[in-house]
Amino acid sequence: MRIDPWASQQSTDYARLRNEFGIQAFDPETVPEPSALMQRGVIFGQRGFDLVARAIRRGEPFGVLTGLMPSGPMHLGHKLVMDQVIWYQRLGADVTITVADVEAWATRNMSLEKAREYAERYYLPYYLALGLEPKGAQIYFQSKRASVKDLSWKLGRKVNWSTMEAIYGFGGTTNMAHAVAPLVQVGDILHVQLPENGGPRPVVVPVGVDQDPHIRLTRDLAQANRTFNVQPHKDDKLGDVLGVFVKTDEKVEAWLAAAKAALEKIGYSDLKLNAPYKALYIPSGSAADVPAVDEALAQLEMRKGAFGFLPPAATYHRFMQGLQGGKMSSSKPESHISLEDSPDEAAKKMGAAMTGGRETAEEQRRLGGRAEECMVYETYVYHLVPEQKELAKLYEDCKSGRMLCGECKGIAKEKIRAFMKDVHEKKAAREHLVKEIVREA
Ligand code: TRP
Ligand code: SF4
Repeated sequence: MRIDPWASQQSTDYARLRNEFGIQAFDPETVPEPSALMQRGVIFGQRGFDLVARAIRRGEPFGVLTGLMPSGPMHLGHKLVMDQVIWYQRLGADVTITVADVEAWATRNMSLEKAREYAERYYLPYYLALGLEPKGAQIYFQSKRASVKDLSWKLGRKVNWSTMEAIYGFGGTTNMAHAVAPLVQVGDILHVQLPENGGPRPVVVPVGVDQDPHIRLTRDLAQANRTFNVQPHKDDKLGDVLGVFVKTDEKVEAWLAAAKAALEKIGYSDLKLNAPYKALYIPSGSAADVPAVDEALAQLEMRKGAFGFLPPAATYHRFMQGLQGGKMSSSKPESHISLEDSPDEAAKKMGAAMTGGRETAEEQRRLGGRAEECMVYETYVYHLVPEQKELAKLYEDCKSGRMLCGECKGIAKEKIRAFMKDVHEKKAAREHLVKEIVREA
């Protein structure tokens, strides 16, 4: 099994995706006040989220990053990502959003101008409408940011074609622009940790599982380009220690001495050098010290001009299905509610959505509805009913047969109408803020 980020169909067998690709379960208890999407299991998986959760709990700096490949108007599926970004922003995250115009050029045949036009018209104003704040946030274009493109070729030294074949299924007919697109995304995700962009810190990338290949590649390259490796170690004489190992063969002694000084500065004493093993041992250290030690070393690496990237985290959310069941697609207007839809259009689509209702009213009163298979209910869960109590009541009323689909759709239509009206008002009031957030380089 392979995940193809550019395929039109994606697997929704989330348990299998977790098992086969080593995605970890997402535990909402790791953050102080988990969002509704977290509590409801919409966000079902993660890689490396412990670093981000730790930063949130400790009130330390962290970042959130996402990217959009513009295609058709922004719909509720895209909103799902932005809701998460805004949630992190409210917790104090700095926000970076990339317009993936290079990727769209390489994989969708879209001109850079068209990508920009789409982003500016269909996406950016809605980000502000949904509540993104300009302060501490920026949006850039892949094609315009030199540091992103520089990183993509520099970090590319640590990945070979066999790996690209294995991850993406690339082969002899893959064109080079497409082959390079994943590396540009690696550049997107890691450049926010460059010294001029705030330095090494935890960064979370909320994505659909289709993006996991890019996440794996990015985390591998972040790791492969480090100078130090930190891990628990058993030493013959010292017993259990935390080991700091130099991975290069150049200037090993200088790196070890610098690491010693940096770790003493953050409070570790009695450090033991083992130069022949290219190691520095922390006798009082354990696995729990890894994040703090690794961060200090990453900062040291950056100061010395090396690539001290902390492994970026990702969370994975479930995909909303299309309103009629099947895939939600940008190119099929009837399959999704777009933020461009008028309140009436949106309500009409809601009214035509596939439900989990029974053949007859009598049967539904007797057996109850199937909320699990219902697109109306899914829209409640993902977007329309943030209140847990209210959602539980709708669920109960459906499952018990107290409420029939006609009544339920009436509620959903009212809610989507109100939501659309609100978004359009906020868009009108806030779209002038786009210029504060867009960077030209
Ligand atoms: N590949 C993403 C998509 O297809 C867009 C993207 C580019 C992205 N760079 C990113 C997403 C960085 C997350 C992080 O939609
Ligand atoms: Fe869906 Fe509502 Fe019908 Fe239940 S009652 S199946 S939630 S539309």
